Amino acid sequence: MTDVDLLRTRADLTRLEPLRAAAAPLVLVPTMGALHAGHLALVRRARELGDPVVSIFVNPTQFAAGEDFAAYPRDLERDLALLEPLGVAAVFAPAVDEMYARDGGVMVQPGPAAQGLCGGRRPGHFAGVLTIVLKLLHLIRPEIAIFGRKDAQQCLVIAEMVRDLDVPVRLLDLPTVREPDGLAMSSRNAYLSPAGRRRARCLSDALAAARTALEAGERAPARLAAAMAAALAAADSVEYAEVRRVPDLAVPARAEGRLLLAVAARIEPARLIDNLVVQVDAGGVRETSLLDDREATA
Ligand code: PAJ
Repeated sequence: MTDVDLLRTRADLTRLEPLRAAAAPLVLVPTMGALHAGHLALVRRARELGDPVVSIFVNPTQFAAGEDFAAYPRDLERDLALLEPLGVAAVFAPAVDEMYARDGGVMVQPGPAAQGLCGGRRPGHFAGVLTIVLKLLHLIRPEIAIFGRKDAQQCLVIAEMVRDLDVPVRLLDLPTVREPDGLAMSSRNAYLSPAGRRRARCLSDALAAARTALEAGERAPARLAAAMAAALAAADSVEYAEVRRVPDLAVPARAEGRLLLAVAARIEPARLIDNLVVQVDAGGVRETSLLDDREATA
């Protein structure tokens, strides 16, 4: 057992009230658990900004039939042990029945940013994400919520909801934490065999190939996509390899301005995604943020 204040029910959330009265803002980091260094980087940033509240909930409504809801890794004790040294104010880890008392309730319909990419491949996925994120924002009422740029379309779909539904929260997107060979950390990497794990670096290789082509002056989205697709030949199948404009995710005529390089591929049973956000202008190509320029990384 750990000393983290573990909240399991809505009633337990009253224990957040003293924190609300404090000067430091409440900062929510929503997760599905099976925590890794990527999640922990978000929590560390939350600690710098205020009092972190981490939610751990494998959200059934964002998984389609036949996806990995049942297989998704769950280990709350391990997650709490990882969070304890980081100074989290509380962990909210409700049961499914606590969040969804009945089937077929109201769901949030995503806006245009959910078109294409993962939204095109996973029908209903972003409605499930938005529904749980809005519920968490309402229940926890943080001033700030932090998300990972690894799930770039998720960040933009959530930002669109917050803007269009006037949700009073500030959003931040943080850079992707990677393994030494470039593979983006993901709870789903646990599905890979050692051989699959070695091949999985093809996703980050694909993004690096597109970035190298941009740095060499390539501005044709189709040729950048082709460079990514070539690297993804090592995957078992490719879902997409695309260049999109940020923040509206339109398909650009030329690869200029703020761009999202986005890939999704299957390796063994794992559906993996990776994303890179770059600013392309006369000054060259540099990695940047999706939502907030102040968080931009060089
Ligand atoms: P999950 O996949 O657990 O991710 C939780 C948060 O961690 C997300 O904001 C995600 O973008 C971020 N993250 C994941 N891998 C990362 C990495 N390698 N580096 C930095 N950040 C990373 O995303 C979800 O859960 C769910 O959809 C959720 C938003 C919790 C709604 O259910």
